[in-house]
Amino acid sequence: MPALTRQTSFSLSRSDFPDDFKFGTSTSAYQIEGSKFGGAGSSHWDTFATSPGNVVNFENGSIACDHYHKWQGDLDLMRDLGIDSYRFSSSWARVMPEGKGAVNAEGLDFYDRLVDGLLERNIEPHLTLYHWELPSALSDLGGWQNRDIADHFANYAEIMITRMGDRLESVATFNEPWCITWLSHYHGIHAPGLRDIRAATRASHHVLLSHAKAVAILRSMEQKNLGIVLNFEHTTPFDDQESSIEAARIAEGIYNRWFLGGLFKGAYPEDVVTYLEPYLPTGWQDDMAAINAPLDWLGINYYTRNLVVEKEPCEGCTLPNFTSEPGPLPKTEMNWEVYPQGLSTLLRWISETHTGALPLTVTENGMANDDHLIDGEVDDQERIAYLDMHFKAALEVIEDGVPLTGYFVWSFMDNFEWALGYDKRFGIIHVDFDTLERLPKASYHAFKAFLA
Ligand code: FCB
Repeated sequence: MPALTRQTSFSLSRSDFPDDFKFGTSTSAYQIEGSKFGGAGSSHWDTFATSPGNVVNFENGSIACDHYHKWQGDLDLMRDLGIDSYRFSSSWARVMPEGKGAVNAEGLDFYDRLVDGLLERNIEPHLTLYHWELPSALSDLGGWQNRDIADHFANYAEIMITRMGDRLESVATFNEPWCITWLSHYHGIHAPGLRDIRAATRASHHVLLSHAKAVAILRSMEQKNLGIVLNFEHTTPFDDQESSIEAARIAEGIYNRWFLGGLFKGAYPEDVVTYLEPYLPTGWQDDMAAINAPLDWLGINYYTRNLVVEKEPCEGCTLPNFTSEPGPLPKTEMNWEVYPQGLSTLLRWISETHTGALPLTVTENGMANDDHLIDGEVDDQERIAYLDMHFKAALEVIEDGVPLTGYFVWSFMDNFEWALGYDKRFGIIHVDFDTLERLPKASYHAFKAFLA
């Protein structure tokens, strides 16, 4: 396999981008905060992670980076880096331990202080309301499979925005509906760990319905800059066999076109509906107009491409039995192929086919690297090279007129990488998970020079 490239600095600088283009970093609550602190309720990630076999090394997010106590130092590191904006998420279970009803004042205060702390450091706060830790009490009621969740989610959104909406630069309802639904209810890799097409299909509709109900309430509160974050993979057939072509079309349809279609066309893609219709909740068509309500921006998370083949023909299976084959290019520690042209192709395609003039933001991009702390330094030059290639891909589409307005690097610091625990390091800041000490990596310093 070809080696990853390494470089000590960026070949671009922020002055190559439009003046109003914003650079930032991203994190999420469960991955950094420490779910056992501050009176948070149990979430389905707490129980999923502590059930043996779900996460490597039996790790979980109960302490994570202890950002819950160390947030001020973390914000200082952001200020010193020179970013314009920070994308973080709030934990529903921290704010509402049972998912509905009583509010945990300490949890709400935490996010309120965080927002003020960002503004004091001249960093724009970008909130995501759901980045995966569903309160267990709602999971007990069927979680995303139960339509009632939409009202509970909208209520939680209203509570958050009532308290801090006046100081937020933007609000995203959800992070990555594909992961919330397919990765978690069909592939069984994330909480709640199901492998059931009916569960996944219904969840995918209820996540969008929840989005719609939250957007309706936040609009009535005149909250600005409402959006959602979707993840995309550049998905094509691995070879030219008929079966690979069909498998790739459906894999791509579910991953890239399903949520986009619902949100921006008010219709799920016909070719995918053909497969999934039997599992959609009764009356789903009646929700589509609400799901199609206008948004102010779309967030795009991009990491890699996906080369699809049919594993083996499966008599009686609902969907083609698709799987991915590794491509020829260098891979990150996630075994994800580095494919920056996928980012430019997708950004062009999304704006041409679905979003038109709507502002787009890259809300996550980055890599897990085989980082080593040697003599007090982490020389992660591969990460600098990876980000540089993707910054170039972004600049290219801006020059072509795609309305791309910002770019958040995933991630601000090493954190709990879900089912892969603490082994996969995505941060531009190294975290020692024994001492919880933070150490900026070479990529942090290079990004700082880029931003200066
Ligand atoms: C995305 C998630 C984020 C992180 C990165 C590597 O799918 O949104 O939490 O796990 O992948």
